Amino acid sequence: MKRFQVAIDGPAGAGKSTVARQVAKNLGFTFVDSGAMYRAIAWMILQEGGQVSEPKAYQLAQNSHFSLHPQGVIVNGRVLTDELRSPDVSNLASTIATMPRVRQALVVKQQEIAEQESVVMDGRDIGSHVLPNADLKVFLTASIEERAKRRLEDLAQKGLSVDLETLKTEIAARDLNDQTREFSPLIQAEDAYLLDTTQMTIPQVVEKILVLCRTKMGGEE
Ligand code: CDP
Repeated sequence: MKRFQVAIDGPAGAGKSTVARQVAKNLGFTFVDSGAMYRAIAWMILQEGGQVSEPKAYQLAQNSHFSLHPQGVIVNGRVLTDELRSPDVSNLASTIATMPRVRQALVVKQQEIAEQESVVMDGRDIGSHVLPNADLKVFLTASIEERAKRRLEDLAQKGLSVDLETLKTEIAARDLNDQTREFSPLIQAEDAYLLDTTQMTIPQVVEKILVLCRTKMGGEE
């Protein structure tokens, strides 16, 4: 059977991972959280307590073995889930993601996964760079207030308490990093479907994307 690729991109906290996971489950596809790979490298650097440098991050990106986990990622056999969500990891992942060689190494791994099976992959550059021929590309967005509120709730559920204003500032800084980096910035692919989720619930967003998928699978434009 032909592999089907769904690319979901957008800024921090737009709900990409939650939505992508549910869409994948519904279609029986593999969910690939590309952000978890950037986060895992940040986590490893923080664990080692070492200096952040491009050679170091590249070496980890190139030489680590990544496999999928529904709530995170497995790196060199170690399951990483909630530890990837701390603000320190988020902020360092955003810095690492500006490093071209790190991106190149991770993009190759992401493309290899998508060659094996039908995927729903979420990130920043999936439709524009990683899977430019994806069957469906969705660009999810929401107001910064709404995105910060959602992230606050996510973190609270994981027992992490963060101040809303701090979170807003951090998300805005990550947006700026993502949009202004030279190599593979966050942009809406020309053929991506723009979905502003500010006023939408998660089930509504999932349903909308499923309708778009079914239309594409049915061969309609
Ligand atoms: O969940 P959230 O949108 O906050 O972040 P994430 O998708 O887990 O990604 C973590 C960081 O990795 C982001 O701040 C991006 O800078 C970076 N990233 C990227 O540059 N390209 C991707 N395909 C995925 C994530």
